[in-house]
Amino acid sequence: MPEAGALSEFAVELRDVSKVFGDIVAVDHVSMGIRHNEFFALLGPSGCGKTTSLRIIAGFERPTSGEVYIDNKPMGNTPPFQRNVNTVFQSYALFPHMTVEQNISFGLEMKGVSKAEIARRVGEVLELVRLPHMAKRYPRQMSGGQQQRVALARALVNRPKVLLLDEPLGALDAKLRKEMQIELKTLQREVGITFIFVTHDQEEALSMSDRIAVFSKGKVLQIGTPLEIYERPTSRFVADFIGETNFLTGRVTQVDGEFAQITTNGGATFRGRAMPGVRAGIEATLSVRPEKVQLVEQPDDSVNCYEVVVRSIAYVGSDTRVVVMLGENRIDVWEQNTISTLDPNYFFKPGERAWLTFKPENALVLAE
Ligand SMILES: Nc1ncnc2c1ncn2[C@@H]1O[C@H](COP(=O)(O)OP(=O)(O)O)[C@@H](O)[C@H]1O
Ligand SMILES: [Mg+2]
Repeated sequence: MPEAGALSEFAVELRDVSKVFGDIVAVDHVSMGIRHNEFFALLGPSGCGKTTSLRIIAGFERPTSGEVYIDNKPMGNTPPFQRNVNTVFQSYALFPHMTVEQNISFGLEMKGVSKAEIARRVGEVLELVRLPHMAKRYPRQMSGGQQQRVALARALVNRPKVLLLDEPLGALDAKLRKEMQIELKTLQREVGITFIFVTHDQEEALSMSDRIAVFSKGKVLQIGTPLEIYERPTSRFVADFIGETNFLTGRVTQVDGEFAQITTNGGATFRGRAMPGVRAGIEATLSVRPEKVQLVEQPDDSVNCYEVVVRSIAYVGSDTRVVVMLGENRIDVWEQNTISTLDPNYFFKPGERAWLTFKPENALVLAE
């Protein structure tokens, strides 16, 4: 227990929070702690409970059970406006008949902040989102990206300790979205406040976050840094949802220390890192990412070396994506094009034989 009055490690904490709507369990016993000044992503497919979790933190929904703590204080029935958090929604919901300036200052006016103070703070956040020259414009006179920045400024002007962002870049086209990802991340560092960011886009979560909570069907399956989530997924769902991977199912034949041996249904035996729950005798899945598999022309004496037949190749500039068959099993291999060549014979051809190989430390045996 922290001392009374001591600052908690967490800006926001969910302890065993569930939310039930009729017979739908939208949030299922979620526990997580979001640290001060952290960029924390809630990531998962549509309908997995991200928005509901965010609304519970904001106070728009009460949990069916469990509790939200903000700065170590249980929130109970604290209404949204008394929580030190602000929300930015996907639909920016700017007032169309108000200028940028008026949109941003509206909340402060309602709170009775003085005119001079409002002018100063609005000027400050407009600088922050790089829109000082647009103060007098109306939302319809601005691009989607600019409107989103106004929505951000409108939240930041309240100086929340925590900003909740629900798919804030979802309405933007791909190029603008990439730009805004970088801007938003830079902004978060500058203002030094905690961001809780909802997205279903795994690349967005990986590139922006300090840590990610991966959701599936209302549950948090894993919390970790982008590296941990990508390199050490603890479940088949997370390995599949984040990035691309090859799965081979089979039975664990041996576990020694950090490593496990699995004999796949096709008869090949591989070694990989034993992930939590892996024991000899259980059904399990080997997961190996396409960029971690090599194709060679001659077998070597390493473990995890098997003969395969090339089915197709696709040259995509930076890499060549080769599909090979190991018996009945399809395996994707991404070979980085580290050599500049115009020689078509440099690449594998469909129908050719090759040997695939990967290091045991680059593959995972998952207990599922
Ligand atoms: N107010 C509500 N009433 C009934 N069901 C809801 C309500 N809000 C969300 N849900 C359901 O809860 C589940 C999680 O929804 P949501 O949190 O919006 O997911 P996400 O944001 O990850 O797409 C979904 O099945 C959704 O239909
Ligand atoms: Mg949502």
